[in-house]
Amino acid sequence: MSKIILTGDRPTGKLHIGHYIGSLKRRVALQNSGEFDAINIMIADAQALTDNFDNPEKIRQNIIEVALDYLSAGIDPSKTTILIQSMIPELTFYYMNLVTVSRLQRNPTVKAEIQMRNFETSIPVGFFCYPISQAADITAFKANVVPVGEDQLPMLEQTREIVRKFNDTYHCNVLVEPEAQLAAESAARRLPGTDGSAKMSKSLGNCIYLSDTPADVKTKVMSMYTDPDHIKITDPGKVEGNTVFTYLDAFSKPEHFAEYLPDYANLDELKDHYRRGGLGDVKVKKFLLAVLEEELSPIRARRAEYQKDIAGVYEILKAGTEKAREVAAQTLDEVRSAMKINYFTDAALIAEQAEKYKA
Ligand code: TRP
Repeated sequence: MSKIILTGDRPTGKLHIGHYIGSLKRRVALQNSGEFDAINIMIADAQALTDNFDNPEKIRQNIIEVALDYLSAGIDPSKTTILIQSMIPELTFYYMNLVTVSRLQRNPTVKAEIQMRNFETSIPVGFFCYPISQAADITAFKANVVPVGEDQLPMLEQTREIVRKFNDTYHCNVLVEPEAQLAAESAARRLPGTDGSAKMSKSLGNCIYLSDTPADVKTKVMSMYTDPDHIKITDPGKVEGNTVFTYLDAFSKPEHFAEYLPDYANLDELKDHYRRGGLGDVKVKKFLLAVLEEELSPIRARRAEYQKDIAGVYEILKAGTEKAREVAAQTLDEVRSAMKINYFTDAALIAEQAEKYKA
């Protein structure tokens, strides 16, 4: 069976290191593994509009930001198709028949977002149905592997249900059930904000962006949330819930210690010292900064190159979208045939109707 990836992001802002460690870095590794027959990354503008419908300018501005973030993180357009969601053929309306309102209401991601956006009393239908649209995105490419963050698992479950229901209802095997692929280490799956809150979010101003300058990253790391009770260096410190250590869990490798902090063999030794007392936050933060910069500086360098040719980046998006349209159009044809709404190419239908009206 062929192995096909589809994944994507909403273009509502620049991508941050939470996106990177939770998913983007893995996409680059999968891309370079050579194990896949097709890799598609979607800039989900239509989905972003479901809760930004009154602000298309924001989406329009961020398409190029997300594209630059992908390319600078190492997504290679000769290996990965980068596409714009709103420009590919739509399956959503056909799938809507297969999903109940109560099932959508039970989708945990939708539930949480409805609360977050104060939509309780007036949920836009487009927003409410975006899990169906996401199922359409994934199935249009017959993707079987979807590398995503943990928060997307309910979307994948909903997609799998739609696939089963479609194939069952229309007695076919047109659609493919996808599997989610999470980041390997749990620390990487949900990176907290620099202020210690559960998630990085633009509105909280607690993100480190892939496009931040070295000075920005330094300021943000040096003011990161640690253990509020670790006041004097000699105080024993807490590692759990200490954002600097959470980031080190996600990003640091033993090689980093040899290079930047040779007094410690690995993260466990550093944590032990912090717990005992006698290790200051500044030293740990400086180490984290070095570790992050090792990851971020090649990304920044590639970004600088791509920024010199913005028109070229739009060309990459256009070429990827055109390629993706063909694949999605093919699936749409198969879906229509399975649903028997392919009237003009259905020779049996035409013959049957002619027979019915024969004199
Ligand atoms: N919903 C995803 C997010 O908010 C983005 C997304 C859109 C996506 N379409 C997708 C992810 C298809 C995986 C597959 O992050």
